[in-house]
Amino acid sequence: MSGWSHRHVLDLAAFSRDDYATVLELAHRFRSMPVTGARKLPALQGRLVATLFFEPSTRTRSSFELAAKRLSADVQSFSPSSSSLSKGESLLDTARTYVAMGADVLVIRHRCTDVPAQLAHELDQAGERTVVLNGGDGQHSHPSQGLLDLYTLAHHFDPHRPQPEALQGKRIGIVGDVLHSRVARSNLWALSACGADVVLCGPPSLVPDAFADFLHAPPPGQTVDPVPQRGRLQISRNLDECLSGADAVMTLRLQKERMTDHLLTDLDRYHRDYGLSHERLRRCAFSGPVLHPGPVNRGVEMSGALLDDRSICLVEDQVRNGIPIRMALLYLMAASDPVADSPRPPAPS
Ligand code: CP
Repeated sequence: MSGWSHRHVLDLAAFSRDDYATVLELAHRFRSMPVTGARKLPALQGRLVATLFFEPSTRTRSSFELAAKRLSADVQSFSPSSSSLSKGESLLDTARTYVAMGADVLVIRHRCTDVPAQLAHELDQAGERTVVLNGGDGQHSHPSQGLLDLYTLAHHFDPHRPQPEALQGKRIGIVGDVLHSRVARSNLWALSACGADVVLCGPPSLVPDAFADFLHAPPPGQTVDPVPQRGRLQISRNLDECLSGADAVMTLRLQKERMTDHLLTDLDRYHRDYGLSHERLRRCAFSGPVLHPGPVNRGVEMSGALLDDRSICLVEDQVRNGIPIRMALLYLMAASDPVADSPRPPAPS
């Protein structure tokens, strides 16, 4: 695709508004195509996609693998517990092993920030063609989740043309454990780039005041912000106020595995103060959709009844949209490989 300049996809801080438009447009085409069984698309035939997940995952890993298969790539999964990591092999040597086996794309998840970026740097230094897609690193970045959330919202606001413009001027609440959330950070870059105003809502222990400066340019790793004008960012401590003016709300999982400082002791109280339910949405006259990146702690971030209510809750749409979004990313990585044959783009829907 012309104009696509990202060899690796590591952080949405580096994305321009055109980049978002390109990914959303491709994903929209892939989403409307029948791509099962014999009708798989041949775009990545002969390519190898390896998924190296050093942290647990259900959605991201499976949907990257399905996306790769739907584009006819070979897929190789890596499982840390049964790998030679237990014999002392390093992460870099593990990745190099997959490169030596011919991996064109490594999708990497790791609990430490910047592991995918460091690996991409090592591969570039070594002159390897293999590209790296960040499947989530520490509290830093989860670019494919940010993109699928963006697509889900754009599709909700404009089903016929789910493009960045659909978010312009919209007010989106992001509620809960922002501090530990790579999803929140990726959503902040994506939503603000598309002109949405974001309200972060939660207690100071989970939404520190310092987040008010998060979007102050330039983004990390950039000398200038690739987005000339972003939407605004505010912090609210009151969920009812946040909901009252919002067009959509995303609530985040309490990441207990990252809470080293015992930030929360009372989950019932958290649900009372920051949990979503039908009753709360009615009280705040909130009529927008509810999103959650998953996995959800039922009865904590939102009630089970709300999670199961598909007329309001878009969690299943988010999961479904993860496949075409990841197809779009894999397709763009393959298309930007200067050595291999470029895949043919899918026809517009
Ligand atoms: N949203 C998300 O990253 O889910 P998984 O951990 O299941 O991949």
